[in-house]
Amino acid sequence: MRPICIIVPMTEVKISVPEHVTVIMDGNGRWAKLRGQERLYGHKEGVESVRACTEFAVEKGIKYLSVFAFSEENWDRPVEEIEGLMQLMLMAITKETPLFQKNGIRFRVIGDFSRLSDKLRGEIDDCMKLTEDNTNLQLIIFLSYSGKWDIVQAANKVVEKKLQAGEIPQVTAQELHANLSTADIPDPDLLIRTSGEQRISNYMLWQTAYTEYYFTEVLWPDFRKTEFQKALDAYAKRERRFGKV
Ligand code: FPP
Repeated sequence: MRPICIIVPMTEVKISVPEHVTVIMDGNGRWAKLRGQERLYGHKEGVESVRACTEFAVEKGIKYLSVFAFSEENWDRPVEEIEGLMQLMLMAITKETPLFQKNGIRFRVIGDFSRLSDKLRGEIDDCMKLTEDNTNLQLIIFLSYSGKWDIVQAANKVVEKKLQAGEIPQVTAQELHANLSTADIPDPDLLIRTSGEQRISNYMLWQTAYTEYYFTEVLWPDFRKTEFQKALDAYAKRERRFGKV
C-alpha cells in the first residue's frame, strides 16, 4: 500500500505562534554603563531593539506586540532622564510613522496621558489616528502606565456607570475586564522580560493571569531577532492549560 501523504498548508503550521507578545524592556541603563556611557545612550539603542522586534513580529505573523516603555514609578527618575526618554519617544514616533504605514502597523499608546506634554500627546494622537485601520500588527506602547492604575480606573468606570444607572455599584470580573485600558486587546500569551530581573513590576497585573513568562539575562539593547526567536521557541514548547487538566 502506498503511504498517505498529507500536505499541511503553511497557515496551519503557525499554531504555536503567540497572538500577543508583551515585553518588559529592561537593562538599557546597565548596557550603557558597561560602555562607559550615559543611560540615555542605552535607551536610544533600546529603540532600535523595538524596531527590530516589530519587524520580526510582522514576519512571524504575531498580531499584537506591546512594550512597557515607561511606568508610573519611572516618573521618579532624574528629570534629565525623563526628558530624554520623552524626547526619544517623540523622535521615534515622527521617524517611524511612514514605516508603520508602509508595513500595515497600527500604532497605539496606552497609559495615563495626563502627565505627558501637549506636544507628545498631539504626536501620539496623530499617529494613532493615521494608523488606526492598519491590520498586520498592533504595536502598543505602555507609557505612564501601571497595572494598579489600570485596575483602579476600570473599577471606577464601572462604579460610575452603575451609580448613574441607579444600580448597586458592585463590580464583576467581566465588567472590570471590559473597562481596562486594554479591553479590546487579547491578554498577552507571552511576556518577555530582559536583563535577568524576574518580576512583573506593576505591569499588566490583571491581563497576565495566564500569560507564559520568559526571562532572559540579555539586556534590552541586545535583544534582537535571534533572541526573540529563542523566546518564541521556548513558548512553543509550553503546555497551556488555563487552570484545567
Ligand atoms: C528599562 O531599562 C527601560 C526603560 C525604563 C525605558 C525603555 C524605553 C525605551 C527603550 C524607549 C522606547 C521608545 C519607543 C518609541 C517604544 P532601565 O533604564 O531600567 O535599565 P537598568 O535596569 O539597566 O537601569
